[in-house]
Amino acid sequence: PYPHYAAMRTSSPVCQVDPDGMWAVSRWDDVLFVLKNPALFSSRGFKAVMEPPWIGYNPLVHSMLALDPPAHTRLRGLVTRAFGGGTTRRLAPKVERLAEELAGKLVGEVDFVEAFATPLPAFVIGEILGLDPSLHVFFKRWADDITSIAPEPESAAHVAQVQTAIAELSGYLREVVAARRRAPADDTVSDLIHAEVDGHSLTEDEILDFLVLLLLAGLETTTHLLGNTMILLAAQPAIWDRLRGDPALAAPFVEEMLRYDGPSHALPRITTAEVTIAGVTIPVGSLVLALVASANRDERRHADPDRFDIDRNAQGHLQFGHGIHTCVGALLARMEVRIALEVLTRRFRRVELGAGEIRYNRTIAIRGPVVLPVRFS
Ligand code: HEM
Repeated sequence: PYPHYAAMRTSSPVCQVDPDGMWAVSRWDDVLFVLKNPALFSSRGFKAVMEPPWIGYNPLVHSMLALDPPAHTRLRGLVTRAFGGGTTRRLAPKVERLAEELAGKLVGEVDFVEAFATPLPAFVIGEILGLDPSLHVFFKRWADDITSIAPEPESAAHVAQVQTAIAELSGYLREVVAARRRAPADDTVSDLIHAEVDGHSLTEDEILDFLVLLLLAGLETTTHLLGNTMILLAAQPAIWDRLRGDPALAAPFVEEMLRYDGPSHALPRITTAEVTIAGVTIPVGSLVLALVASANRDERRHADPDRFDIDRNAQGHLQFGHGIHTCVGALLARMEVRIALEVLTRRFRRVELGAGEIRYNRTIAIRGPVVLPVRFS
């Protein structure tokens, strides 16, 4: 359970959570209202959160994730081919092979995040972008460092670490783009290079910002979803048994898992005008966090929300956002986790937590374990 969210939904569903004026919205229908109204709630909120002055330039904040219409609309259409049902179906057998291979190494006490939950999503996005698999090991460090951005750095070393990650990642992607310009391939990088929007190609920076978004958006999120899933299954062996008995339950399991403990928690927005929600007036220019994880536990929307119920209809959860910025990788993420579950429950009788300590990540935007010792038997 998330007691702070429950308390907010009950006593102050729209409230100011810090003296600098950051607001939070915690009920399902209010969160939906925020996400449905990009003209009032701008995604430039990401800039306020992810590009504090100590960072310099953060490519994520210049990608479509952090843009509003019409700039967002212009870019969004470019990647639908890469993330549609066709790609998901084409990749599924490869994901299954990799999941089998990784599962074969889950012997004794292992860190599930390192051994399974990190390489699987890295492989998938690497395939879509056509990246060199030997570089997958760097993706996680870049993603960890870039998502550790906070208003104030933790230390001079932290500043250097984040700036190095951004420089390395951008440098690497620049080389990939240059290579595809010389020799086009059937991948998303080549598609972006040759794409035309309103009669113009994308600029080099636009391509780079886009690639950084595609690379990072699906990494930590999917890793955390896989991690949260194992924590739940270790605590509730009866669900593991049901999944073992009936693999068709993997798909509804994933949907309920997204609702119950998906990784997205807070989506940042900035108000473009004074706006009143649930009787509370928020001034223009305020940073507002749309608390999707709280919305997914809202008793006004989902009965008995703190109970994991594989048989419930979890539809309407906001784990992939809603409206114009709805996650483009939703199909892929669902497919990855579904296949992972099918493979793991076929091969193992049980998952249990190991003796080592579980460590969680550091941001409030997404939540999941970064170290997760487990044993499969
Ligand atoms: C956007 C969640 C996996 C690519 C989003 C948004 C959410 C989200 C909540 C909306 C952000 C907002 O409205 O401000 C998740 C979760 C995932 C996941 C929970 C896994 C469990 C992926 C994957 C990819 C991906 C695998 C691709 C490889 C994107 C992109 C956007 C996005 C490109 C920006 C869309 C836009 O701005 O129009 N995601 N995501 N995501 N996601 Fe995901």
